[in-house]
Order: sequence, then structure tokens, then C-alpha cells
Amino acid sequence: MKALITGASKGIGLAIAKRMAKEKIELILTSRNAIELESVKSEIQDEYHNLRIDCYTADLSHKQDIEKLAAEIYYHHSEINILVNNAGTYLRGNINDAEDGMLEKLMATNLYSAFHLTRLMLPLLRKHTPGYIFNMSSIAGLEPYPGGHLYCISKFALTGFSQCLREELMQDGIKVCTIYPGATWSDSWKGADLPIDRIMQASDVAEAIAAQLKMSPSAVIEEILLRPQLGDL
Ligand SMILES: NC(=O)c1ccc[n+]([C@@H]2O[C@H](COP(=O)([O-])OP(=O)(O)OC[C@H]3O[C@@H](n4cnc5c(N)ncnc54)[C@H](OP(=O)(O)O)[C@@H]3O)[C@@H](O)[C@H]2O)c1
Repeated sequence: MKALITGASKGIGLAIAKRMAKEKIELILTSRNAIELESVKSEIQDEYHNLRIDCYTADLSHKQDIEKLAAEIYYHHSEINILVNNAGTYLRGNINDAEDGMLEKLMATNLYSAFHLTRLMLPLLRKHTPGYIFNMSSIAGLEPYPGGHLYCISKFALTGFSQCLREELMQDGIKVCTIYPGATWSDSWKGADLPIDRIMQASDVAEAIAAQLKMSPSAVIEEILLRPQLGDL
């Protein structure tokens, strides 16, 4: 099995990469930072010595970068089994007060990245079924999050994309899952003065994803909603 994971250099994407490595799944990792990706690769290969891991840099908020990434993947890989659309960014701002251009940035990184990459990867995913697509939405893709309404708009759009994709691929042996995590420790929470047990671990999200891979071909986990035990922040 081979998985393409976006935003794999840190946080939730890194945890998913490590969890998939544990299942001996070969990895194609991407983010904008080549040094961080190489460090993730050697960290994982220290534990799983012979696991193939390929790293590619791309700014997924630019369609041309996504097309270049896809061309590199097609050149080096004849199939993929799992696509994790995880790359995303949080910017604080409401409809009322956000600076001009913020929504466009959020939509490019949080929605169009997944939309374009998925369309380009579908022929590779169709080669062997079952295939798996995971789209990293958020609790903020289900309900308004105070102070982050533009982020919510982009994640609601990703939720819509993911649910429509599920309908489109239902007959094709490709399982589509939308993930809605609540607050999860990552760089996004750097500097937050909160007790460690108030926020979920990135490995919790990764563990939930791993459950999908163990289902029989006739079952799909369509949605995964995770919250801190003590509720939303
Ligand atoms: N942490 C939470 O509480 C939480 C809750 C709900 C949902 N989420 C979602 O979960 C996903 C991962 O979040 P995280 O908290 O793990 O964030 P993170 O630690 O900031 O990691 C984000 C990852 O995405 C990559 N990335 C960001 N912008 C990119 C771009 N334009 N092109 C390519 N790669 C890009 C980053 O690498 P580079 O910066 O090097 O490119 C990094 O690998 C996001 O979609 C986020 O919205 C997070």
C-alpha cells in the first residue's frame, strides 16, 4: 500500500504518516519545506528501516504547484492507494473585520488544494481498489467558530467537497472519509497557555484514521468527529 499525505511535515499530518508507517504503508510526503520533510523521513526510517518514503515540496495554494507535484508523482509512482488531504492553515478573522484577501488565501489552501489534487490523483487511486481518501475538515467545518469565521467558511466548503466526493466515488470502490477534529496539539496552538490534557493529541486523529483501513471492503467510515474529552475550547 502507498499513501500520499499532504501537510506531512508536522502536526496531524506527521502523526498520520507515522501511524501509516506502522502499518508498513509506503509514504509520499509533501509540504512546502524540504528540510522538515527530510527530517521527518529520517525520523520514520530510523524506526522502519526499509520503508520507502518519497518527499516532494509544493505550495498547494497554487494550482501550478499542484500540477507539478502530480507530474512528479506520475513519473515515479504507478499507483497510490490512500490520499490524505490534510494540508491546511488557520487564520483568525470574521466576515466583519478580516483583512481583504484572507478568504481567498484560506480557500486556496484549505479547499482548492484538496479539490485539484484529488482530481489529479483519481486515475492513480482507481488502479487498485479499495482506495481511500481522507479529507481533513474540522469542527469549524460543521459549526461557526468564534473569531475564525473565514476559516469556518473554507472548512464548510471542504466538508461539502468531501461529502459530494463520497457520493461520486461510492460505486468505484474508493472510500471517502471526512474528518472533523476539535482542538488538537500542533503548531497552530503554539504559545497557548493550556493544560496538556485540554487538547487532543495528533496521534488520536491518526489512530481514528487507521480504523478505516481495517474495515471490510463493504464498509466505509464516512465521517470521524473527534473532540477533547472536556469539550471544545
Ligand atoms: N490542530 C487543530 O486543532 C486542528 C483542528 C481541526 C482541524 N485541523 C486541520 O488539520 C490539518 C492539519 O493541521 P495542524 O494543526 O496539524 O497544522 P500544522 O501543524 O500547522 O501543519 C500544517 C501542515 O500543512 C502544511 N501546509 C500549510 N500550508 C501549506 C501550503 N500552502 N502548501 C503545502 N503545505 C502546506 C504545513 O507545512 P509547510 O508550512 O511547511 O508547508 C504542515 O505540514 C489542517 O487542515 C487543519 O485545518 C487542525
